[in-house]
Amino acid sequence: MKDLFARIIENKGPLGKWASQAEGYFVFPKLEGPISNRMKFQGKEVITWSINDYLGMANLPEIKKVDGETAAEYGAAYPMGARMMSGHTDFHEQLEEELADFVHKESSYLLNFGYQGILSTIDALVSKDDIIVYDVDSHACIIDGVRLHMGKRFTFVHNDIESLKKNLERATKMAEQTGGGILVISEGVFGMRGEQGKLKEIVALKKEYNFRLLVDDAHGFGTLGKTGAGAGEEQGIQDDIDVYFATFAKSMAGIGAFLAADKGIIDYLKYNLRSQMFAKSLPMIYVKGGLKRLDMLRSKPELREKLWENVNALQNGLKERGFDIGTTTSCVTPVYLNGSIPEAMALVKDLRENYGIFCSIVVYPVIPKGMILLRMIPTTTHTLEDVAVTLDAFSAIRDRLQNGTYKRLSAAVAAAMGEKV
Ligand SMILES: Cc1ncc(COP(=O)(O)O)c(C=O)c1O
Repeated sequence: MKDLFARIIENKGPLGKWASQAEGYFVFPKLEGPISNRMKFQGKEVITWSINDYLGMANLPEIKKVDGETAAEYGAAYPMGARMMSGHTDFHEQLEEELADFVHKESSYLLNFGYQGILSTIDALVSKDDIIVYDVDSHACIIDGVRLHMGKRFTFVHNDIESLKKNLERATKMAEQTGGGILVISEGVFGMRGEQGKLKEIVALKKEYNFRLLVDDAHGFGTLGKTGAGAGEEQGIQDDIDVYFATFAKSMAGIGAFLAADKGIIDYLKYNLRSQMFAKSLPMIYVKGGLKRLDMLRSKPELREKLWENVNALQNGLKERGFDIGTTTSCVTPVYLNGSIPEAMALVKDLRENYGIFCSIVVYPVIPKGMILLRMIPTTTHTLEDVAVTLDAFSAIRDRLQNGTYKRLSAAVAAAMGEKV
């Protein structure tokens, strides 16, 4: 019989196999200094384009003051226990009321982490007779939530309404047999490519099909819509999202997440969300910190205005220089290039060491083989000078990618890894 660990030792997985080349640099890098547009990497200043602190809240003095005062008053533990048992406070309730109000829903409920929260939400919303129909490009937390489902599930082609309709037909037939209902899941903004989910078109299908809609708006909350209430507000259909989800880990620069929906649904979820019933309540630092962040979100539209000034400068600048930034309709700015993984590594190293630009690379298996995705997250803290420096650097690295410089530089790595370049 095989030892359980034999497979793990032999096969480290599609990303793990790069660990010896990548760890500490491309993955698990250590960025130091205050969270901002410029931080230190291995002792050198870099312009950071890979931090989801969209509104620049992480390092705002007003916010750090509240975080510090709350830590001094409550410590990191308070309140102890799960919400239901001993971890409930007036401040948790207050934050829920204010969040519900902000995203135009009757009620809301806090989650400790977005990932576990959405997993558990999907689990709680469906029974084995229900059918889930979800976008094939969904974030891992949605895919993992669907994995818990004991009934049928269908994927639809990313943002493809015809494909969704086809799958709703199938799901409707099946639900008629099982006696269950249908849950459709999309994202407000797809975090890799930056496209908004086609929420308006999806909710229009409610006239033809009977389903409920869950939207993960991790990247839309705080960045999209007239007031920053997210992709539903941006597309004018917030009322038709049945269960709205967002995390605090991005524009709120914190930890935690929340759901918002009609009161009856939230009341049900409060008693059935296993990730909250069997886990410790969100600590006060994040709850009082969340209240302060929400206050800033509401009262300082200039944070969002500056964010969008930077987003537009970066995206327009890239397009003017002929870069392929796909079909983003959000702050997430992907730059698509062609090349192998070793070439991508050489390119990112050049960007970091010689141009002082820090951005994340995304490669196969997250995107198709032979493609390199440089994923950039503009924030409020960036300056137009950061954008100009970055655009020049990108033009230079594209030339070097095209003239084979990175192929040459990465040949040894590629050979060592048995990769073709
Ligand atoms: C689309 C999406 N959903 C959910 C999450 C998970 O949120 P959290 O970091 O709060 O667990 C993320 C974070 O990466 C995300 O991008």
